[in-house]
Amino acid sequence: MLKLTSVDLKKVGTETLIIPVCEDKTIHDNPAISLLIDKALQLKEFTGKKDDEVIFYDLEEVKAKRVILTGLGKLEKIDPEALRAFAGRAVKKCMKINLPEALLAVPCGENIKIDIASMLEAMMEGAFLGNHVFNKYKKEKKLKPLKKIDLLVKPDMVKKYGVLATRVETVCAGTILAREWVSTPSNDKKPEQFTKSIADLAKKEKLKVSVLNEKELKQKKFGAMLAVGAGSQSKPRLVVLEYSPKGAKKTIALVGKGVTFDSGGINLKPTGSLEDMKIDMSGAAAVAATLITIAKLKLKVKVVGVMPIVENMPSGSACRPGDIVKSYDGKTVEIGNTDAEGRLILIDALSYCIKKYKPHTIIDIATLTGACVIALGEKIAGVLSFDDELVKTIELSGKKTHERCWSLPMPDDYKELLKSDLADIKNISSSRWGGAITAALFLSEFVGDARWAHIDIAGPASIKKEHEYCGAGGTGFGVRLFCDLLEKL
Ligand code: BES
Ligand code: ZN
Ligand code: ZN
Repeated sequence: MLKLTSVDLKKVGTETLIIPVCEDKTIHDNPAISLLIDKALQLKEFTGKKDDEVIFYDLEEVKAKRVILTGLGKLEKIDPEALRAFAGRAVKKCMKINLPEALLAVPCGENIKIDIASMLEAMMEGAFLGNHVFNKYKKEKKLKPLKKIDLLVKPDMVKKYGVLATRVETVCAGTILAREWVSTPSNDKKPEQFTKSIADLAKKEKLKVSVLNEKELKQKKFGAMLAVGAGSQSKPRLVVLEYSPKGAKKTIALVGKGVTFDSGGINLKPTGSLEDMKIDMSGAAAVAATLITIAKLKLKVKVVGVMPIVENMPSGSACRPGDIVKSYDGKTVEIGNTDAEGRLILIDALSYCIKKYKPHTIIDIATLTGACVIALGEKIAGVLSFDDELVKTIELSGKKTHERCWSLPMPDDYKELLKSDLADIKNISSSRWGGAITAALFLSEFVGDARWAHIDIAGPASIKKEHEYCGAGGTGFGVRLFCDLLEKL
């Protein structure tokens, strides 16, 4: 669907040509495009300022039915994310006027300081992700994704970056898969349904799939996870996906929180907080989609994905505040609040994963705390780890993919906030403050000396209002981040 091309605009007919324009510098060295930009800049209403737009129809200069010129603003503001956003917006615009295809002009020339691969990658990501609509639940499908998106580049780049185009398509298809899982309503993704959906797609990519059902979880003593799932009619599952390429030496483990609906349990959430809680399986969605994606990419590292999948509901069989449960690793946990359920399912998944797979590095991803959203806002994930190098590597991948991650501290003395009078530890802090940190410190008590990091995506897992390359709903945060990170680790 995404293709690099280098047609002669004067000879080959195009439906829609879209050109990004810089306000203060030239960013194209294709003479036909420069001509069109000059023509646009002669108009009073177009200066190349960010979001300026002009459309020409049936020009003599090029064989395009329409040419859309879009302002990007000043050169200093043009970075990969600006190009991602430009491409996403361009594709969405075409979709809204029901056009089947588009040709996007890629900037080039000496003023552009971004390396070509990063620029192409960003534009292709924006275009591919912007071309997605989640309209499964609408009778009338108003928007139709484009069938073909081409990027206009120099002739020598077509072959050179062809592989990159395929990679971007694969990774972004993974992001879209995660987005759709997250956006699916909870009545259609009960633990058994979500498990089946993951297993079916994983098997297609020849991943090893194992599922522990409730009976097996009881036998293996997943006490914390079972307590969280106890209130729901749909019983918990632990899903494990394994990708083991030949010759791989180390194992990286990814663990994702999979609460298909977080009502809060007996500590029921109030109206206003309940409505969004179908997204509480975003961590598991990111992990499953990442494994499916890296199998397609044929990555050279062994990766296991562990997903504890439960529904957190209040009922006569639900766990209660004050209950004490025995976790998989043997420590007892006092449930101070049934709404702090994510950490309960994660500790069992983390200790099981470490015991069984002895991974070189283990990273969990979870919509874990509202406190993290208060600390970092809705667009940035929190990263918590004792391993500074691992944090740096994660932050770097976050920069590259614009799935931004910011480090939060892990102060040793905050651990005492998790003390329980009766059990080994309590699942909530005795202080109102620093909730993202105390949640991570709680997890840290169950990872031994493994090289571990925790990513809290409560903020960026979903959005209420669409942006340039993502519709309202799940964002698929984590998939592009992990695909980049797994190559670095
Ligand atoms: N799933 C929530 C966290 C969350 C909040 C995700 C907002 C996405 C958006 C989590 O299970 C939760 O309820 N956490 C509580 C913990 C508290 C009871 C210690 C919270 O953050 O309030
Ligand atoms: Zn909760
Ligand atoms: Zn939750």
